Amino acid sequence: MQAVTYPIAERISSISVSSTMKVSADADKLRAQGEDVVDFGAGEPDFPTPDNIKQAAIRALEQNFTKYTAAGGTAELKKAICERHAQDFGTSYTPAECIVTVGGKHVIFNLTQALVNPGDEVVIPVPYWVTYKDVVNYAGGKCVFVDTEESNGFAVTAAMIEPHLNSRTRIVLINSPSNPSGAVVDREEFEKIYRMTAERGIYLMTDECYCKFLYDSEPYSIASLPGSKDTVLVAGSLSKTYAMTGWRIGFGLVPAPIVTAMTKLQSHSTSNPTSISQKAAVEALRGPQDSVTAMLAEYRKRRDFVIQRLRSIPGVTCAEPRGAFYAYPNLGVVIGKNGIHNTTQLAERLLSEQKVAVVPGEAFGTNSHVRISYATSMHELERGLDRLHQFVVKNS
Ligand SMILES: Cc1ncc(COP(=O)(O)O)c(C=O)c1O
Repeated sequence: MQAVTYPIAERISSISVSSTMKVSADADKLRAQGEDVVDFGAGEPDFPTPDNIKQAAIRALEQNFTKYTAAGGTAELKKAICERHAQDFGTSYTPAECIVTVGGKHVIFNLTQALVNPGDEVVIPVPYWVTYKDVVNYAGGKCVFVDTEESNGFAVTAAMIEPHLNSRTRIVLINSPSNPSGAVVDREEFEKIYRMTAERGIYLMTDECYCKFLYDSEPYSIASLPGSKDTVLVAGSLSKTYAMTGWRIGFGLVPAPIVTAMTKLQSHSTSNPTSISQKAAVEALRGPQDSVTAMLAEYRKRRDFVIQRLRSIPGVTCAEPRGAFYAYPNLGVVIGKNGIHNTTQLAERLLSEQKVAVVPGEAFGTNSHVRISYATSMHELERGLDRLHQFVVKNS
């Protein structure tokens, strides 16, 4: 009998494999072969989930809280999300304007599915988090990229965005602090971007995944601006804030009709986020917040160390990250040398020759940078940066 092969659906061909996940897989493969790999690829805290959160999950299990919940999350968790956002940022969301999702990625995916029609444009500053491009493509939308300057710390401004807006623009997507650059949009500039989009009836999506990890300013949400709830779409996640990447809890704070649309989609795809994780998330949001402060203090020490070390490598420049836990150095000095033609080849060579895993800048829309995650121990940072230094000296 002849084997039947079916073609893969076209919508899947419009997206690519997440490069950050590919780097982790390549590093894992080498490690499994017994190699001593330093992994700067992982975009997740190296801290364990705080104990009070884990205990809440254990209690949930003991109390048999192990069944389906409402597809868009429990009433208890929605309330806890609204209350935490109100306490942190002075916003006034109600549970009807809240949806709980299977991580922050899921809220961005469902939002674009709910709002983007084929041909609609989504404006995205570069460098951008890998997933934005693919979820917009998957919805049939068109990404419109806005370049920023390394010399300005990759900061995006309203003036940079404005020429890219037109009658097809549906969403402007801001991620502050940014993955991969650590760039931050200051409050005044954010308000300008908000006014510019609101006046034109364009949604402003704010990805607040790293909102608590800021080094020189206070946490801020554009959704705190009076009247902004109609056009601001908050995409949130507990993954990084509470070191809960594996628990898969994210949330959206968006107008109620959009919650209804997203819940409909969720009810036919994932159904509810894991019941046990939802109980743990309530504790994360309502319990002590000191673990967040402790992680930030540690990230700050590491950032200062990483930046100083990167800048000491001949020919390497690096904008200072103002938030999140990534550095985005420019390694253009080795491109065009010794058979290295782009950052993908650079990352491959760095992994095979020096056993250091980084994410190539092409994944984020630039072509001479790599992303280094400093959510790893000082010891690993020292070892990996020594190796990177040797690699650059050898190849430039
Ligand atoms: C900018 C940004 N947004 C959202 C997410 C989503 O995180 P998760 O789906 O793990 O909650 C990530 C994860 O890396 C991210 O970097």
